Amino acid sequence: MQNNLQHQQADWWQQGVIYQIYPRSFKDNNGDGIGDLPGIIAKLDYLTWLGVDAIWLSPIYPSPMVDFGYDVSDFTSIDPIFGDLTTFDALVAQAHHSGLKVIMDYVPNHTSDQHPWFLASRSSRQHPKRDWYVWVEPKPDGSPPNNWLGSWGGSAWEWDATTHQYYLHSYHKAMPDLNWRNPAVKDAMFDVVRFWFDRGVDGLRIDSAQRIMKDPHLRDNPPNPTPKVTSYKLLGDYDSQLHLYDRSHADNHAVYRELRQLLDSYSLQSPRVALGEMHIFDWQEWASYYGQQLDELHMPLNFGLVYVPWKASAVRQHVDAIETALRPGAWPNYVLANHDEPRITSRIGPEQARIALMLLLTLRGTPTLYNGDEIGMHNVEIPPQLVHDPWEKSLPGMGLGRDPERSPMQWDAGHNAGFCPPTVKPWLPIADDYQQVNVAAQREDRHSMLALTRALLQLRRTTPALSLGSYAPIAGVPEECFVYVRQSGEQRRLVALNFSGSEQHIQLSTMGNGFIRISTHLDREESVDLASLHLRSDEGCVIELADGQTN
Ligand code: NOJ
Repeated sequence: MQNNLQHQQADWWQQGVIYQIYPRSFKDNNGDGIGDLPGIIAKLDYLTWLGVDAIWLSPIYPSPMVDFGYDVSDFTSIDPIFGDLTTFDALVAQAHHSGLKVIMDYVPNHTSDQHPWFLASRSSRQHPKRDWYVWVEPKPDGSPPNNWLGSWGGSAWEWDATTHQYYLHSYHKAMPDLNWRNPAVKDAMFDVVRFWFDRGVDGLRIDSAQRIMKDPHLRDNPPNPTPKVTSYKLLGDYDSQLHLYDRSHADNHAVYRELRQLLDSYSLQSPRVALGEMHIFDWQEWASYYGQQLDELHMPLNFGLVYVPWKASAVRQHVDAIETALRPGAWPNYVLANHDEPRITSRIGPEQARIALMLLLTLRGTPTLYNGDEIGMHNVEIPPQLVHDPWEKSLPGMGLGRDPERSPMQWDAGHNAGFCPPTVKPWLPIADDYQQVNVAAQREDRHSMLALTRALLQLRRTTPALSLGSYAPIAGVPEECFVYVRQSGEQRRLVALNFSGSEQHIQLSTMGNGFIRISTHLDREESVDLASLHLRSDEGCVIELADGQTN
């Protein structure tokens, strides 16, 4: 086992756990029904009590909010809905004071159509910023220049009646794609990075990271011979093509190498991290974004656990595939859920959500935990008249809408769950179970999901085998179970997870005795004979093993 890391060599982003905050839904401080930066500041104590190490903020920049912040109209300011730069500086200072790192969402692929750069670009073909976006002549019959599709339906090209060209938008037409082949765009966007790093930000989560470079010849995508995708959700018409030319271009790598140099120059003061949102499920290709010399992204985000069928064998295969794909020194990471995907509790049920949490927090690699998953929040059904998400509006009824997982955080049993004042209407409905499922109630319940999350975070933090150690799967266990050993130096921990609703019996006759440090049921800490380990239905355990050989 070569894949462990020594404590002294590890950076914060390798040892730590990242907590994703969706700011609109986290905590409303000013009573407008939308979360804000003072709300986040008010909850920093909670986050340090919980035991996470870094917060990643989904976008808080000025935005017309067509895509709730991912349509940015100014990359170097804060939307008044959330606060201002002074409040942001206070947030960073207080987070750092509490030992929390701050990661910003960085949105390089597109801007809002209200961004001054785009307003200038679309004003005339002669404007110096014209080439900051992708403008193309129509075909002779007036139709778009190629067959590329927007992710949320329809053509990726929008006609501009004033200047008589099409512009490219990989998502909504109000989100035109920047032209990263223009060095001026790269310079301007790198200045954005400097702006936030100079304010003390510790890292970037790079939105739509694989999309920035497209085929310079704008070739048509070929048809997809097997429109049913298996590793990602069904996306409708978008699946009718193989996306060979509109994303994942090899030229992305040069940009990320250069970006990494910029980050590394800041890391001389304090380590910075670059995470890339990559919807790539070919693990070799995904791993290529670490860079040949580990000189690109610190961690291309791994969404495998979000889509893998929830079976022990499939999850193990996924983890093994990731471990195999990584070149030496590349540090893994796992995402279980986020603001774009169904809540884990709704996907696999509340019992298995506890297994998922134990898995996430005991695998080798940096976990990303989505706000609310620590208390087991579920998707909230949104009636058609309350839909906000542009994806659901474009393709209604296909199950692609993301409002259900963005419902406000449930803090207490009061009206509006403590998210906003009782007299205010929150921007999305509160889940109907908030009187039982909330932070305050679960803090009092020593068997709650919150108690489990906190205990796992604490165990991970105090156990190098779990935070930094090697990973080795154990064969010969029941097919409903996924069992692995994490090891750092001589310290060894066995993780045994039962993915089924029935009791499982695991026989590890050569392992001797162990001591259960934590069970997902939070009701046993005891010695066990590993020749005969019983896991109850939906139970997972982290078990201390006798010290082993140094690996
Ligand atoms: C990925 C983000 O996570 C998602 O929320 C957003 O809609 C798209 N990128 C476009 O920015």
